[in-house]
Amino acid sequence: MAGIADRNPQQGTRKLPFPKGFLWGAATAAHQVEGDNVNNDWWAFEQRPGAIWHGDRSGPACDWWCNAEADFDRMAEMGHNTHRLSVEWSRIEPEEGTFDPAAIARYREMLTGLRRRGVEPMVTLFHFSSPSWLAHQGGWRNPAVVGYFRRFARHTVEQLGDLVKLWCTINEPNVYAAVGYLLGEHAPGAKNPRHCFQVLSHHLQAHAAAYRVIKAMDGSAHVGLVMNIIVFEPLDPGYRASVRAAKLADYAFHDLVFRAIGDGKLRFPLGLGLTRHGPLIDSVDFWGVNYYTRQRVSLQRQFLQPTPGAEVSDSGHSGPYGEIYPEGLYRVLKRVAALRPQGVPIYITENGLPDSDDDQRPRYLLTHLAQMQRAIAEGVDVRGYYHWSFTDNFEWAEGWALRFGLIALDEKTQVRTPRRSAQLYTDIIRANAITPGMVANYAPEVMSDIFP
Ligand code: GCO
Repeated sequence: MAGIADRNPQQGTRKLPFPKGFLWGAATAAHQVEGDNVNNDWWAFEQRPGAIWHGDRSGPACDWWCNAEADFDRMAEMGHNTHRLSVEWSRIEPEEGTFDPAAIARYREMLTGLRRRGVEPMVTLFHFSSPSWLAHQGGWRNPAVVGYFRRFARHTVEQLGDLVKLWCTINEPNVYAAVGYLLGEHAPGAKNPRHCFQVLSHHLQAHAAAYRVIKAMDGSAHVGLVMNIIVFEPLDPGYRASVRAAKLADYAFHDLVFRAIGDGKLRFPLGLGLTRHGPLIDSVDFWGVNYYTRQRVSLQRQFLQPTPGAEVSDSGHSGPYGEIYPEGLYRVLKRVAALRPQGVPIYITENGLPDSDDDQRPRYLLTHLAQMQRAIAEGVDVRGYYHWSFTDNFEWAEGWALRFGLIALDEKTQVRTPRRSAQLYTDIIRANAITPGMVANYAPEVMSDIFP
């Protein structure tokens, strides 16, 4: 089932090999790791009583604004050859139309530091946090945001472009719109379907504007859009309403965006109309895929839930973060590979789970990477894998409760302790393959799945 194994006749050993030059690393986001991002909407949201689980705050986060380099050293020691990070808009443009050269200088220092260590940076321009000045003007509901984002993208790429070949415009427009404007769990905490689709539309227009401006400045830059992709399936396939709800969730969360990139038309569900945006057509040089989980859709019980009886990861404020479903990664890669524009490469820009005692992560890593290898062996052009995340970090509305790091972080003392998974990931990177020895060592229970 899992990967397509290579037999090495000399040693009689089998392994699942990855392509030569494959990019291996971890992903982070500015607000989750930098610390003291006091001038954005998330900082303000964190002060709101009840907004963050246990009343947690991002605070100094992982201290990256002052000391990311200590973690860059660890990445290099662990064999990572790439890292996905984001820049914080509120640092680069602290007031509308005013750019801060000191913030640019710090990002140049960080990017140079990564390169010097042999770690190729992938940079995301927007990962959930907006400058306070923008939030005060209505944030992503204000149509002016498209022009603001274009100007920010132009400035940032002008200043950092010589150090970056891989750009992501916007992280997960689907999650941003749904969780911030429909479920009300992320900043700004709204619950309005009309606003949700309005924000999604502005996100996509801003993506297209940034894509065009970056390509005009540097035709050789690779610019992609990052989507969170969930496998939605009905809880009860025999129940028509549940099947229809799963289809609607899949359309609103995924296909609406995929089709808009294909033909420039945003077709909103629920009778919310259709809009046309020519610049969206083919506006991706690669797809960034964030894959975590499968969700069962039900209209009778909780709308989204794990498959009954399936293994789940650690729990957040409203229950398990998600079902562990490795084959979903294979299915998602096949789906994205079939999208228009044809032949666009894929990076897995996030994949991981909250698992504070690391009793599931080694198995999660091996089984998901085996599914990725299976897709690659069938011809899907996957160029890199970014584990979410490097160290534990500020997990938005869940605060510090969910632990996604290869490396455990005590956020009070800033002490880092590598989890077993950190070593396993290094072994995989160094071998550029999964071997039976690794499986035997870290997750023997899945040996027959991975090496049947
Ligand atoms: C997201 C973001 C990350 C999260 C990660 C774990 O998907 O919400 O891209 O910032 O921290 O996905 O939930």
